[in-house]
Amino acid sequence: MRKSTEWIAVAVTATREVAPGIREFTLEPEGGAGAYPTGSHLQVQAVIEGKGTIRRYSLIGDAPRDGTWRIAVKREDTGRGGSRYMWSLPVGARLQVTYPDSHFQLSRDASEYLLIAGGIGITPILGMAMTLKRRSGRFHVLYLGRSRTALAYLDELHALLGNDLHVFTDDEGRADVAAEITRLDAEGEAYICGPLGLLEAVRRAWQHSGRRRDRLHYETFGSSGRFATKPFTVRVPRLGVTVEVPAGTTMLDALEAAGVGVLSDCRRGECGLCQMKVLELSGSLDHRDVFFSDVEHASNHRICACVSRVSGGTISVEPAWRGDERLLSGPELRASRLVACAAPA
Ligand code: FES
Repeated sequence: MRKSTEWIAVAVTATREVAPGIREFTLEPEGGAGAYPTGSHLQVQAVIEGKGTIRRYSLIGDAPRDGTWRIAVKREDTGRGGSRYMWSLPVGARLQVTYPDSHFQLSRDASEYLLIAGGIGITPILGMAMTLKRRSGRFHVLYLGRSRTALAYLDELHALLGNDLHVFTDDEGRADVAAEITRLDAEGEAYICGPLGLLEAVRRAWQHSGRRRDRLHYETFGSSGRFATKPFTVRVPRLGVTVEVPAGTTMLDALEAAGVGVLSDCRRGECGLCQMKVLELSGSLDHRDVFFSDVEHASNHRICACVSRVSGGTISVEPAWRGDERLLSGPELRASRLVACAAPA
């Protein structure tokens, strides 16, 4: 089994638009594409404004196709730059990626499965639906988006699932996720990937239903929040560092660029590894993670630096203690990222 922290070269062998603003990339690894568990992603080395960074993209489908892996990337013109970098890649481009890894695996023993995808969140859910179909499992899929034309892989899903696919768009009405959770078998599980608002609605409905917490599984984009994305200032008093965080950069990336070593893994607000103690705050804290509970968010005592932000203000934080008080150089930071990626989520 190859390690998910090992980097390998892949070639982009094909691209195609699977919905407006969503491009699928076919990637051929040197040595062939290995099998992968459901919910797997690749880490991809991207270059944004001349600096190397890492993005994660879910694999499409439940198995390699013709020796290749596939990912799909939604173009976000006002995002942090990862999607713009991916969209700039022509067929023939070469990339460094990790072997597939999954923190979002489908169990084998639930009596029924509810799969929920919001927009580009269909990417891990599609492979789960294929796996459950092959297993003849009891399941259905809720697929939510602005309009049918905005939904990637819709024809493929219709052909695969028929009446087990339920589509909800702005024109056709909203999904009643609370009712869907109520209807789910007592030993059932739910898997959801989508924007933060959808995830929180499902989490609240799940909690309200009294179901076991470990039977709700989720993955998020880690980019949507309650406030508009604005620049803000972050201070680390222990290191004497003050950093401006532009609108298109995360607090984690800005701190790392300033030489502050911060542990991280998912970089999507899921694992909690990048959490920092909030020492002082002016402005509104825009929690965009799914790691902390509603109560923890309301207290504003901690922040996940990889996704959460301050809406117009300043924050002073104490990063997790790494045993080094000095600022790190570029190579040291890169090494620290690999150590962090090997840590359990
Ligand atoms: S790195 Fe996982 S929550 Fe920030």
